[in-house]
Amino acid sequence: MEKKKYYLTTPIYYPSANFHIGHCYTTVIADAINRFKKLEGYDTYFLTGSDEHGLKIEKKANDAGVTPKEYVDKIIENAKDLWKALDVEYDKFIRTTDSEHIDTVQKIFKKLYDQGDIYKGEYKGLYCTPCESFWTETQLVDGKCPDCAREVNEVAEEAYFFKLSKYQKRLEEYIEEHPEFIQPVSRKNEMLNNFIKPGLEDLCVSRTSFTWGIPVTFDEKHIVYVWIDALSNYISALGYLSEDDSNFKKYWPADLHIVGKEIVRFHTIIWPIMLMALDLPLPHQVFGHGWLVINGGKISKSLGNYRDPREYILEYGVDAIRYYLLREVPFGSDGQFSEELLLSRYNADLANTLGNLVNRTLSMLTKYFDGVIEKSDVKTEFDEDLINIVTSTKEKMENYMDKLEIPEAIDSIFEIFRRCNKYIDETTPWILAKNNDTDKLKNVLYNLLESIRIGAILLSPYLPRTSKEIIRQLNTKEINYESTNKFGILETNIHINDFKPIFMRIEIKDETK
Ligand code: ME8
Ligand code: MG
Repeated sequence: MEKKKYYLTTPIYYPSANFHIGHCYTTVIADAINRFKKLEGYDTYFLTGSDEHGLKIEKKANDAGVTPKEYVDKIIENAKDLWKALDVEYDKFIRTTDSEHIDTVQKIFKKLYDQGDIYKGEYKGLYCTPCESFWTETQLVDGKCPDCAREVNEVAEEAYFFKLSKYQKRLEEYIEEHPEFIQPVSRKNEMLNNFIKPGLEDLCVSRTSFTWGIPVTFDEKHIVYVWIDALSNYISALGYLSEDDSNFKKYWPADLHIVGKEIVRFHTIIWPIMLMALDLPLPHQVFGHGWLVINGGKISKSLGNYRDPREYILEYGVDAIRYYLLREVPFGSDGQFSEELLLSRYNADLANTLGNLVNRTLSMLTKYFDGVIEKSDVKTEFDEDLINIVTSTKEKMENYMDKLEIPEAIDSIFEIFRRCNKYIDETTPWILAKNNDTDKLKNVLYNLLESIRIGAILLSPYLPRTSKEIIRQLNTKEINYESTNKFGILETNIHINDFKPIFMRIEIKDETK
């Protein structure tokens, strides 16, 4: 049977030498979802990339005394480095300066113009340069940009417009009929009630006031509005309107666009209307997640309130960071980030619950059985409950992931480890050893090892290194995901002798002393 496809995207990021932990959030979550879908047997395609055009970049390049292309080329490796350091495994990294992308955007623009969905007019409006957004008078908050609260400028220029108004009713109906399209539901209501139902004005989609962008082929003093350029990446990356569009045919429509809440508007108004105008199917879902904040405020380089995420990775290990990003904040809500919170999560869950369990179990196996495991028929009264919890986790986790409840999915796996620790307290292996209750002790250790093996496989989308390391320490070849709802598969008579603690407790420095 042919595998089902799954196409997943992150936003394409503005090239920056100063990525912070908030930028890692979207990408690590997307990576975990992608790995999970792969584990479930999907043929996945995971796209990320960089959004390199626009006035902001042109200005920064000017300040640096280089061309915009030189400027972005120099810092683009920074993004790739960071994703690599976070064990993010994407299928493609698209750059909006790629010639294939430029070509597709130009074709899209021309097609929409030829069919009358883009037309020429004059633009007078209020523009926020940092946000690259046009606003109407009524959208301003205290006369300032509603997104960033900075000054907006009045501009007037000859420009091309995209007929959003023509598609308003269709979009409204589509959103009403497809409740899964915009998630969480609060964002759907916000889009419908605050933006779409009050009426959509045609969107200005070209610029003449600067040059760092994709030229309109039939009117070269115009460049394509950066959001039309950027949103197109999701299909240009697949070869839409190019010679080889096999990936497009295979993977479009996207199953999931993950985006931060401030760009949901672009992804649920402009983007679906572009697709409708191109006569293409709409993505199954746009999920708008919240922000990581520090002391309740935005993480920002101008506030100087963040460290380079690579410093955290070096200090605590990549899985400590992945764990925090995936586990701490309900997906969809805003959440705090601080090193203290990171460390208390690390100590409580990774060091105490998981690391300690694995190390204790393998140490007992070494001490009592020379590191060689065997099964036995002498059960304890606690086995059934342990086994029930372990074998029902796969389905629980899958159900959470289907709803993108990622912290809950991970926690369901940690339920295994917590149950194991309790099982150790209940069965007191050291007393069994003292009493020479050897067969019972074998059974207890086998059950622990088998539970750990299953937990480790289930962890692999979230903490891939930790998962691999536990499997390595267990010296097992039984790593099939599909059978993680069955108990008793772990091999017997394998020798375990090469292990060390996977997470050591880290003392939290008390700054007040
Ligand atoms: O918006 N917490 O790029 P970008 C959580 N180029 N997520 C955060 C965050 C934080 N503190 N800070 C940033 C753009 N992000 C456009 C996208 S897509 C066609 C074009 C997230 O580099 C942010 O919400 O400003 C967004 O999803 C992503 O980082 C990229 O932001
Ligand atoms: Mg942004």
